[in-house]
Amino acid sequence: MCGIVGYLGPKNPKDVIMTGLKALEYRGYDSAGVAILHEGKFKRVRAEGKLGNLSEKLASEPFSGHLGIGHTRWATHGKPSERNAHPHSVGSVSLVHNGIIENYVELRQELVREGAVFESETDSELVAHLVDRQLAKTPNLLDAVLQVLPRLQGAYAIVVVNEKQPDTMVAFKNGPPLIVGVGDDAMYVASDIQALVNYTRRIVYLDDGEVVEVKGPSYKVFSAAGQPLQKKVNEVNWTSEVANKGGFSHFMLKEIFEQPRAVAQAIQPHINLAKNSVELNGVGFDVNDVFRDIERVFVVACGTSYYAGLIGEYMIERLARVPVEVDIASEFRYRHPVLPKNSLFISISQSGETADTLAAVRLAKQAGVKVLSICNVRSSSIDREADGHLYMNAGAEVGVASTKAFSATLALLNLLSLALAKAQGQSTIEEEQKLVRQLLAAPSQIEICLNLDKFFKEAADKLKNYRGFLYLGRGVHYPIALEGALKLKELAYMHAEGYAAGEMKHGPLALIDKDMAVVMMVPHDELFEKSLSNLEEAKARGGQIISIGTGHNPRLEEISEHYLSLPEVDWFTLPLLEVVPVQLLAFHVASSLGHDVDQPRNLAKSVTVE
Ligand code: F6R
Repeated sequence: MCGIVGYLGPKNPKDVIMTGLKALEYRGYDSAGVAILHEGKFKRVRAEGKLGNLSEKLASEPFSGHLGIGHTRWATHGKPSERNAHPHSVGSVSLVHNGIIENYVELRQELVREGAVFESETDSELVAHLVDRQLAKTPNLLDAVLQVLPRLQGAYAIVVVNEKQPDTMVAFKNGPPLIVGVGDDAMYVASDIQALVNYTRRIVYLDDGEVVEVKGPSYKVFSAAGQPLQKKVNEVNWTSEVANKGGFSHFMLKEIFEQPRAVAQAIQPHINLAKNSVELNGVGFDVNDVFRDIERVFVVACGTSYYAGLIGEYMIERLARVPVEVDIASEFRYRHPVLPKNSLFISISQSGETADTLAAVRLAKQAGVKVLSICNVRSSSIDREADGHLYMNAGAEVGVASTKAFSATLALLNLLSLALAKAQGQSTIEEEQKLVRQLLAAPSQIEICLNLDKFFKEAADKLKNYRGFLYLGRGVHYPIALEGALKLKELAYMHAEGYAAGEMKHGPLALIDKDMAVVMMVPHDELFEKSLSNLEEAKARGGQIISIGTGHNPRLEEISEHYLSLPEVDWFTLPLLEVVPVQLLAFHVASSLGHDVDQPRNLAKSVTVE
């Protein structure tokens, strides 16, 4: 969370920094700010709220210098306000920070005792104080930073500048991502590549504990102990995925509608169309070799990616007969997990930067377990650290609420479960061909589900008046219930819960009355009768039933306030279809409540602090 940019070069720093911040706004939008040299001093301009507020303030501001830093904030310490906005300036020092300084209470108390006066409530400002104080003893910025570094505990990516060295910026990191962009006559630092692709494609990835000193148009990287390091310059072939809504009102809606393509792009590299078989290509290790000996699978992720992982558990256990454990990354990393040698560890992360998922990946690697990453953003931290890679290929996901990345992940898990089943000798060619054909048909079936957009657009005005929503499902459909509830919570700020339908009588039934909507996945499968009984029980207590089923289903239609019919497919790909109505429901309810759907309050797209 938080996006940071630094620029040193002949262009107007305001333009470069604002272009970079625009690309980084997904990382937080509580406030934004810049500090840019003007007539020998850093001129600081900050604004509460989204980047647009800062743009307005900056419109008439001239800057004469060629060095500047910028920040877009997701608040950790200190409420969102201009006072707490970055950059933080103390003496001649200005800095921007992404992360959390964990020992900030002790450090702040110490600084206050020494007479420091704080103007914000942030943990970041104290780093500016520490560097400023150190500069009094060691006037060189790099030396000062190297002295301050050992004092900082926690997660940080920081860019710092010093008015007295107008040709220098120093950046360092531990945890959150930080990259250096190498231009012909200019240097850049930023939280991610998208912030820089308009200017350079030559990128140096900083590792934890590293410090870069940018001086004029060159740079040097050092260890935290000050030892010079040789770093590889990577030529990235990214193009600028300039945010564009493609005629839709919101990025999220566009991304919901992009799901047929996202699924097709995810599976395309891995399907042999002549044989209708799965061949996981470009993974980075020999899939058959590794998968043959796997005795246990761990899937670790957060949020929506975690729910995709839960669906993966059902697929893998059912098809490959390998036991699967799915964990929330923040739990996994601290629960002292037992990771037997012949395990496969699958991380799922759209951004590839989620701090807890990254920490879990490191833990698995330390235990000597093969790590396979399912990721959307290439060259992200998780992607770079994993042993093997399956790419979502979903294209940039801009809406903070994940949609097309979820579908692309499900499609990859479809393939992965088939590949594992094959390597384990658990599937027949006929079964594989049948399920591959089913997966190939999914994009056009998702298209059909997108027609429900019209229904939710019209129904939203009524749906928004319910007091709460209970989402229910069984088997692979249960994680869709969890996902539906999460989407509604994060976008509409309404109370919603996802439950395994069989658990309803064990508590949640007490919530149901006429003001409660019950959204249930009720596919026409072997558990249909049981699910129908659950719905009857909810209806008997006054619940308003919205059922999501397959094909024409008179019994469901009769007991439901709204029955939403999906194409008749079986369990393997049905979650890909079921997720569409729950996404559309959340989107339209949130829109009709007037919320900012693309940038819901308090959230950020990339969660780089734990
Ligand atoms: C919800 C949502 C989040 C993310 C979660 C993990 O709509 O987007 O729950 O799924 O923060 O993010 P990644 O997949 O980037 O690790």
